[in-house]
Amino acid sequence: MHNHFYTLITGASEGFGKALAIECANRKMNLILVALPDSKLYALAEFIKQKYKVDVIALEKDLTIEENCIWVFKEVEQLRLSVNMLINNVGIGSTMLFSEGSVSFYQKQLKLNVIATTLLTSLFLDMLKSNKPSHILNVGSLCSFFFLAKKQVYGATKSYIYFFSKSLRRELRSDGINVSVICPGGMNTNASVMATNKSNNWLMRMSIMDPEDVAPIAIKGLLNRKEIIIPGRINKLFLLADKLLPPIINEMISNHHMKKFKSVSAIE
Ligand SMILES: NC(=O)c1ccc[n+]([C@@H]2O[C@H](COP(=O)([O-])OP(=O)(O)OC[C@H]3O[C@@H](n4cnc5c(N)ncnc54)[C@H](OP(=O)(O)O)[C@@H]3O)[C@@H](O)[C@H]2O)c1
Repeated sequence: MHNHFYTLITGASEGFGKALAIECANRKMNLILVALPDSKLYALAEFIKQKYKVDVIALEKDLTIEENCIWVFKEVEQLRLSVNMLINNVGIGSTMLFSEGSVSFYQKQLKLNVIATTLLTSLFLDMLKSNKPSHILNVGSLCSFFFLAKKQVYGATKSYIYFFSKSLRRELRSDGINVSVICPGGMNTNASVMATNKSNNWLMRMSIMDPEDVAPIAIKGLLNRKEIIIPGRINKLFLLADKLLPPIINEMISNHHMKKFKSVSAIE
């Protein structure tokens, strides 16, 4: 094995996390992949091992449970693995009016999108400090920048990821740890996201990317120590328009756009 360090990726059995795992393996990085139990993670780990000739460890744990985040860290220590790259990808999305969501759904979304990322970063911090040069990639969203109806809790969790990443980057620079945040627009990952993507207008549909195309942009940006990674020209254009247009026009456009969406959440 050329490299004795490992990259830990959360939410790695499907969607963007799986694409990131394959991109990292293609760059000869050893992997620790985390996803829910019975998520076909072992099969993915075996496939990556065989195809890319890197070491892959699969850990199946529900990361909404804080004790499981701690278990993941302890297991990595127990196996004497050295992590020098932490990719906090796990997260669940939703598109629905606030009144349509249940308290238990919002709790799950906050625990996964906010608490798991914060906890794992805290747990692995000392290990990252001693395995320099090291990197943290947090997965935000283009929603981090916009105030969108039907995306209130999800958007707020992703704004947290954005602010957390930018502040932490300043703190950890002197420790030799790079922190980057990627803010993708729509990606064709799971079935509910793809259904939402299909009901978009033509410009939004044009902006949707495949996770396999976003993953190389993410890892290249991370290794180049980019602070904020925005994949795709149209997504960059949306951000520019948001800065240039008056707030009242932005609000009218986004309200008109969000009205069309049927309510969906990744889990109920
Ligand atoms: N898709 C988009 O359009 C989009 C846009 C911007 C940002 N993002 C962000 O990108 C990230 C990945 O999204 P995605 O669309 O790729 O998601 P996805 O296709 O639903 O995949 C989610 C991954 O997380 C795992 N997971 C779900 N709940 C978990 C839990 N409680 N504990 C441990 N693992 C869990 C899933 O495992 P199982 O296979 O077992 O369910 C799966 O591997 C998220 O942070 C999301 O907010 C997505």
